[in-house]
Amino acid sequence: MSRGLDEHRHLLSDRARLAALQRAVLTVVRPGDVVVDLASGTGILGLMACRAGASRVYSIDDGGIIDVARALARANGCADRMTFVMGHSADVELPERADVLVADQIGYFCFEAGLLELYSDARRRLLNPCGRMMPERVHLMVGLVESEDVRDRIAFWSGQAAGFDLSPGTEIAANTAYPLTLSDSDLLSDGVNGAVIDVRSAGTAAFSVKADLTAFRSGALDAIGGWFVAELAAGVTMTNAPGAPDQITRQHLALPLGSPMTVRKGDPVTVSMQIRPAERLVRWTVDVRNGEHRLVRSTMNGMLLPREFLARTRPRFVPRLTERGKARQTVLDLCDGVRAVAEIERAAYERHPDLFASLDLAQTFVAEVVARDGA
Ligand SMILES: C[S@@+](CC[C@H](N)C(=O)[O-])C[C@H]1O[C@@H](n2cnc3c(N)ncnc32)[C@H](O)[C@@H]1O
Repeated sequence: MSRGLDEHRHLLSDRARLAALQRAVLTVVRPGDVVVDLASGTGILGLMACRAGASRVYSIDDGGIIDVARALARANGCADRMTFVMGHSADVELPERADVLVADQIGYFCFEAGLLELYSDARRRLLNPCGRMMPERVHLMVGLVESEDVRDRIAFWSGQAAGFDLSPGTEIAANTAYPLTLSDSDLLSDGVNGAVIDVRSAGTAAFSVKADLTAFRSGALDAIGGWFVAELAAGVTMTNAPGAPDQITRQHLALPLGSPMTVRKGDPVTVSMQIRPAERLVRWTVDVRNGEHRLVRSTMNGMLLPREFLARTRPRFVPRLTERGKARQTVLDLCDGVRAVAEIERAAYERHPDLFASLDLAQTFVAEVVARDGA
């Protein structure tokens, strides 16, 4: 089971988000423009671009939602101007370059949903040299957070389940970044701008976030909260900042301290982060009262990387294909532009009898490989 369509219902029900995106698209798209909607989902940004007068829109998405998007384009009289391309944006080639790239792949805190990879690739391959982009810049905002929810998620691992000790999970839990909803009553400080990413030029290299914060009330500092303010187009912003009057319905990122630290009203807290966007890694350092308390955490220590997996990444490891890997190789070799799927299914079934007890199982396997790597 997956959230599937319901995730898009959620996105399309968010009026503050749609209002900001519609204003931005009307600002950035000019009549006659060619527009590329990256990670297009239901194609809503492409529909908005048509409304703004785009002559053609290419909507790129790698998920099954693309058929719903096609139907929405037909239902809204835009089918003749919209072309839907199913695939990962980095694999897609288009017959012409765009005047405008649009996307809402900002995630909770700008980097973790893949915005930087998306744009650094598409800008280079799919956009005219003097083309425009929406969003233009994203501010990474940082704030001090008191959150029972975060505290409970970590304290959980100090307890037991069915009478068994769970404490080995504590360190991993304290080095995990949690998507959750923060409200303004969770904040111990104002949000401060820690970094600005210019989507029009940013690459995927590591970058730093730094913020000097001051507690505006006393409390238990459980986590550093992360959210964004996006400059979508000239004069149009969109934010998930807790308590903002125009806040969109989107979660935030909480980077825990592990065990809460007491802060007093007026205490200075310095937060710095190193973010490696392509690997979705964050390392965060928190200094309370000018270094009186200091801690460093990293999602590197929160990753669930079994030692078996790590061993396979060592440079001297000599890998061999598993039975499943061999079957995958068979299928890929047979995708030669000549054979039809039925022939490939039968060959996979006959060549890998230990793996596929029935033709049905081979068919399911081939469907997965061909859907992912075939065209
Ligand atoms: C947040 S949702 C859609 C948002 C949509 N633009 C909107 O405003 O409602 C993201 C969609 O992008 C797709 N996606 C994410 N990264 C992608 C990529 N690099 N290439 C193609 N599709 C991608 C996912 O399958 C999903 O359907």
